[in-house]
Amino acid sequence: METILLNDGNQIPSVGFGVFMIENNGPTYDAVLAALKAGYRHIDTAAAYFNEEDVGKAIRDSGIAREEIFVTSKLWLQDYGYEQAKKGIARSLRKLGLDYIDLYLIHQPYGDVLGAWKAMEEAQADGKLKSIGVSNMTPNIYKQFVSKMATKPAVNQVECNPFCQQRELRELMAKDNVKLECYYPLGHGDSKLLGNEVVQRLAKKYQKNAGQVLLRFETQDGLIVLPKSSNIQRIIGNIDIFDFQLTDEEMNEMYALDTGKTSHDPEAPGVEEMLRKAFIIED
Ligand SMILES: NC(=O)c1ccc[n+]([C@@H]2O[C@H](COP(=O)([O-])OP(=O)(O)OC[C@H]3O[C@@H](n4cnc5c(N)ncnc54)[C@H](OP(=O)(O)O)[C@@H]3O)[C@@H](O)[C@H]2O)c1
Repeated sequence: METILLNDGNQIPSVGFGVFMIENNGPTYDAVLAALKAGYRHIDTAAAYFNEEDVGKAIRDSGIAREEIFVTSKLWLQDYGYEQAKKGIARSLRKLGLDYIDLYLIHQPYGDVLGAWKAMEEAQADGKLKSIGVSNMTPNIYKQFVSKMATKPAVNQVECNPFCQQRELRELMAKDNVKLECYYPLGHGDSKLLGNEVVQRLAKKYQKNAGQVLLRFETQDGLIVLPKSSNIQRIIGNIDIFDFQLTDEEMNEMYALDTGKTSHDPEAPGVEEMLRKAFIIED
């Protein structure tokens, strides 16, 4: 498995298995076990996905050594601020049933982000969180928060795929050597992206499916990808992307698909309020 060096010295596998919208109490357990069997060594969950328990159980039951698996979780909005974040971190560790989390993210960039960040820096110093990062930070939001952070985030996890390549954000993040993690690497299943003419032509040429072409393009472009699937064939296929390489000309064709727009705009009016109401994490 290809890995990428983070600015804190830790290595992250470039393909992670995303478990957003997979239910706890069985489906996530089965999907994570299947993913680990298929060769994934990086799982991306969050307190707000309500499936940290199944992720931890699958990791324990997999028979794979804990240190070989890179686990990400995320702090939800209700737990921002210094004191509350300490509780949120402890809750994630308890639900996962792990002694440490490889990467922990500020899931949404609103409210007392800096207070929560301080608690995450302390948990990192204590060894409970190996790496810490942020998510959903647009260039404006990134400038607002990251300039005030003593520890630079290891990653910023944002929507990124050929239709939204995040060029401005990537330039900004490169100055701090912050890596970009792509959520929606398959466009959240967007048929316009998966059915795009260039993507389909390349899939045919390399005898791969459209999803594999998207993931190959993204990893070849230096990004970390977090494809989600509940389908065993696609789980296996989405990591089988390292036996072909797009030519420079083909990379340029893919670069040209950028619209500069994301489907989710973290700065849009009402988004913060909508997200605050969306989930309540129980102990
Ligand atoms: N930080 C954040 O705020 C945030 C937000 C969203 C997501 N995420 C993370 O990013 C991960 C990925 O995002 P996502 O799950 O929403 O979107 P995604 O991975 O881009 O797309 C998943 C969708 O594509 C389908 N799919 C999977 N493999 C495919 C393939 N090879 N060909 C065609 N279709 C395929 C899946 O269906 P099947 O299941 O039926 O295969 C599912 O409908 C999440 O699981 C989560 O870990 C983070």
